[in-house]
Amino acid sequence: MFDKVANLFIIIFFFNEFIHLVNSQCPPDFVLKPCSCKSSIPFHTNILFNNPNPEANIIQRKSIACEHIHNSSFDLQLVFLTLSSFNSLISNKTANVSDFDSFYLYNTTVKELPENVFINITFKSLMFQDNFQLATIDKNAFSYFKNHVELFETLNTNLSDAETIFSIIKEFQNLARLSMHNDRLKFIPNYAFNHKHLTNIFFGLEYSDKYQPIESIGNYAFYNLPNLQFLRIFSPTLSRINKYAFALRNRSILNNGVSNMLELYLGGEMIESTSFELTSLSRFRNRFVFIRFYNTSITYLDEDIFQPFLESNPSSLLDINPTNTLFKCDCRSAWIQYDYFKNVYPMDNRVYGYPCWDYDFAKNCTINK
Ligand SMILES: *[C@@H]1O[C@H](CO)[C@@H](O)[C@H](O)[C@H]1NC(C)=O
Ligand SMILES: *[C@@H]1O[C@H](CO)[C@@H](O)[C@H](O)[C@H]1NC(C)=O
Ligand SMILES: *[C@@H]1O[C@H](CO)[C@@H](O)[C@H](O)[C@H]1NC(C)=O
Ligand SMILES: *[C@@H]1O[C@H](CO)[C@@H](O)[C@H](O)[C@H]1NC(C)=O
Ligand SMILES: *[C@@H]1O[C@H](CO)[C@@H](O)[C@H](O)[C@H]1NC(C)=O
Ligand SMILES: *[C@@H]1O[C@H](CO)[C@@H](O)[C@H](O)[C@H]1NC(C)=O
Ligand SMILES: *[C@@H]1O[C@H](CO)[C@@H](O)[C@H](O)[C@H]1NC(C)=O
Ligand SMILES: *[C@@H]1O[C@H](CO)[C@@H](O)[C@H](O)[C@H]1NC(C)=O
Ligand SMILES: *[C@@H]1O[C@H](CO)[C@@H](O)[C@H](O)[C@H]1NC(C)=O
Repeated sequence: MFDKVANLFIIIFFFNEFIHLVNSQCPPDFVLKPCSCKSSIPFHTNILFNNPNPEANIIQRKSIACEHIHNSSFDLQLVFLTLSSFNSLISNKTANVSDFDSFYLYNTTVKELPENVFINITFKSLMFQDNFQLATIDKNAFSYFKNHVELFETLNTNLSDAETIFSIIKEFQNLARLSMHNDRLKFIPNYAFNHKHLTNIFFGLEYSDKYQPIESIGNYAFYNLPNLQFLRIFSPTLSRINKYAFALRNRSILNNGVSNMLELYLGGEMIESTSFELTSLSRFRNRFVFIRFYNTSITYLDEDIFQPFLESNPSSLLDINPTNTLFKCDCRSAWIQYDYFKNVYPMDNRVYGYPCWDYDFAKNCTINK
């Protein structure tokens, strides 16, 4: 008798929770505690660009957020073990609470993510922000749902094992956006990427304090990215661009005679005029590429590097804007004035920010014209 009452109580309890579930698409709060299920989270780009009000733009998605947790006994995997057990208790025909859009780990003292951290719960977006002690992600942490992941973002972690992190990223076959800032990744491996749908890769941002301390970029790192549109690399320790670092495999498919633009933003004070190996900027096949430099120590643009770059596609552009404070009207940049001055309107000339269109190079330079 007692058992029956208890069972009935449980059934009624779960029936109520079932109604809750259908209405909100979220499991009840006690299941996820101290994390929570949300139908919207702040749009990460707002946070990155220091928008004073990141909550203003939100992503309307079914998400799980674990925020402001500084409890050393907090066990992230236990939260998901509870959720998956809860899922197996409720009817299998009800709302699907196994598949979520985003997971957001923010302002915690979590140190590591173990193998299969989310049990059998899946996410399309994985976002880790302000977890300053997060140093380890097991190589199989996300294996269960690796084909679901479309977005992977980190900001302010202690991740330094580039070999493991990039091997995890490589498994995300449907990855579309990658955004990693202020971690401790020191290199990008050879052939790091092999993703059909990946369009945006951000390691750091211009006009901000977001960077990734990358010292070297491997050979053919971005070779197998036929749809790459945006690549940002901002690193205070990057000093060398090897011959094959930016090589692309695919010729781009022309759209009414115009190929889709690839924007390549590079920043860092150890990037100098001599940092670029011969042909390192001429392996874009026929892509229309827009290279912008920020806060570099470039003093001149070497004709042997940048002239072939400009000739690799008739639309390709360079931007050596005023953040490159050391740039001078050096004789070694005179070729730009001679060959690429078209018009007094600066945007018609293909080297934006070049301060020497009117400079009298003839006075001091030997000209091989
Ligand atoms: C981070 O979490 C701690 C502990 O919950 C809280 O005191 C602090 O205000 C949080 N920081 C931010 C920036 O939200
Ligand atoms: C820390 O987590 C443990 C285990 O989840 C819990 O029992 C304890 O109440 C939590 N402490 C605080 C201060 O939240
Ligand atoms: C998910 O995990 C729970 C508990 O670990 C288990 O009971 C359930 O059968 C699993 N569901 C699936 C679809 O694998
Ligand atoms: C679970 O799903 C199976 C197959 O769709 C069905 O036969 C079964 O009745 C369902 N169970 C419940 C409790 O709804
Ligand atoms: C939940 O959705 C996933 C794919 O979106 C599907 O594979 C799984 O069978 C669904 N589970 C239930 C209980 O409907
Ligand atoms: C980051 O990891 C290094 C070891 O790789 C360790 O010395 C340091 O204390 C860690 N920092 C934090 C904030 O956990
Ligand atoms: C890229 O090039 C490879 C090898 O030539 C080819 O198999 C693949 O279909 C191309 N992909 C695209 C999107 O053009
Ligand atoms: C980059 O240069 C701009 C303009 O000179 C400056 O405001 C900014 O602080 C610099 N950023 C870094 C990371 O040095
Ligand atoms: C030419 O070089 C001399 C000595 O290096 C320098 O003082 C002068 O300003 C230069 N003139 C121009 C037009 O660059």
